[in-house]
Amino acid sequence: MTLNRREILQLGLLGSGAFLAPFVPQKPADAAPFSPQISRFEVPLPIPPVLSPAYSDETTDYYEIKIQKARVEILPGTTTEIWGYNGLFPGPTIRQQGGNPNTEGRQSVVRFINELGKDEHDCDINAVIHLHGMASLPQYDGFATDFVPPGHFKDYIYPNDRAATIWYHDHAIDQTARNVYQGLAGMYIVEDEFERNLPLPKGQYDVPLLIRDAFFEQIGTEAKLVFDDRDRRSTYGDVALVNGVPWPRMAVANRKYRFRLLNISPSRGFQLALSRDLNRLTLGEKMVVIASDGGLLETPVELSTPYQKLKLGMAERYEIIIDFSQYEIGESVYLKNIGFSGSIDSDTRIHTLMRFDVMRDEPDDSVIPKKLREVKRLSVADADRTRTFRFERSFDQWLINGKGWNENRVDANPGLGDIEIWEFVNPGSGWFHPIHVHLIDMQMLDRNGMPVRPYEQGWKDVFHLGEFEKVRVIGEFGPRNPEFMKRFIHGKFMMHCHNLVHEDHSMMTVFEVGDNGDEPKSAPAQSITEMKSFEATYPSPPDVYDMAAIEEFDEELYGKGR
Ligand code: C2O
Ligand code: CU
Repeated sequence: MTLNRREILQLGLLGSGAFLAPFVPQKPADAAPFSPQISRFEVPLPIPPVLSPAYSDETTDYYEIKIQKARVEILPGTTTEIWGYNGLFPGPTIRQQGGNPNTEGRQSVVRFINELGKDEHDCDINAVIHLHGMASLPQYDGFATDFVPPGHFKDYIYPNDRAATIWYHDHAIDQTARNVYQGLAGMYIVEDEFERNLPLPKGQYDVPLLIRDAFFEQIGTEAKLVFDDRDRRSTYGDVALVNGVPWPRMAVANRKYRFRLLNISPSRGFQLALSRDLNRLTLGEKMVVIASDGGLLETPVELSTPYQKLKLGMAERYEIIIDFSQYEIGESVYLKNIGFSGSIDSDTRIHTLMRFDVMRDEPDDSVIPKKLREVKRLSVADADRTRTFRFERSFDQWLINGKGWNENRVDANPGLGDIEIWEFVNPGSGWFHPIHVHLIDMQMLDRNGMPVRPYEQGWKDVFHLGEFEKVRVIGEFGPRNPEFMKRFIHGKFMMHCHNLVHEDHSMMTVFEVGDNGDEPKSAPAQSITEMKSFEATYPSPPDVYDMAAIEEFDEELYGKGR
């Protein structure tokens, strides 16, 4: 029996329990049922280029990124229009020296220039840039209506106070899913001395992997990225893209590699495992998780097939070590995505993401330390209060505590320095929600009263909230020491589901830390006609963060050596 795409979608919907709204296909009836069937594991894995600063002074590095449409080759032999940072998909990687500002940490200014122009409906494509995982002031955090319109630019200032793998992506209200789908995502790595001094794999053995799905429609030699949010449910594709190419292969040496995994899919979660066989899981394949969203775990967590998998929800980051010395030269190992990934699959090809080919023999002096970095535990006994947020669907809207987005409504107002427990509840079936809290790193306490998975026990900013689950997280909203509170980051920030279709319609809300914080729209974009060189704009480096306060706070919160 062969099913057409529509029938498959309907089956998927039946399976997902989402009967709440009638199914209205958005794709024209004559659209191809699948993306073009290209052969897998042929394109070598590209590594996004590292962006050099355009200018630097004593404390700050200044970067420039143009947001542009571009034509790139994604599927071999075709071209695809993407919207990309510097015209690239994914965007360039920023690697910045962070940490203690007095001894090593540097500040970044990233100038984003919007050259996107109009979309196919002749509407301006407004950009908003959020650096996901950075504790930025409200006016540099990418508030969803703080637009950078076409022909405008905005300088975002980032403190880089702690080391972690984070990322920048579009956050424009109601259009985030489309804009990220079109390619607006890139990695941003903050490194510090402490981490660099660990004997982990470095240089060419430290590899970013930005993973997502996509759907393409081929017309001649053009492969068009087709965005279909399925009546505001979710958007899925049947092509796996890693670093912007379909099902790549990577030639590796028989040694350890560090991979920085980031899920940039709008709606698809992954469950990762390695296998020597394409079609079934082989036994005993190991990966070691060393870091999560907010940086290194306290101790490495080894996962081994067939029972242990790594769940990578949208926007989550995990860093893993794979030791390819467990394989013979000439052997291959697949990065698999197994099990139900919260998606309507139109074929099973997406159950494999890429292949590693062990090609050469090389020495390996890297070691995975038994203790990576101290993770100070926040204690329930210290919490000032608990808040509950329910994530539910109602008709064609996704809501938090029954409410949709209203930028003028504040739904939670933790005092500066308060410790709070946030309880996330997903009473429904058929959908999981990766919940993202801006500004702070938090720790997961439990899921349905049970301990969370070992690799979820470090610092995180995205929390996997499965069907019928209640997840409790704890976080500290700034320094408790009043001496440092004055200029510490406070103000309005967003919290939302990182299924970008849910976020757009409209599972997102505002919380406000303390009061009298800077307004999210207090540093508006300017016309490019006003743009001057960095040197002329910043005769001295911008001084917007109280770095001494941040440093003190980080030390108190994360422990020594941050
Ligand atoms: Cu990665 Cu508010 O998002
Ligand atoms: Cu959601």
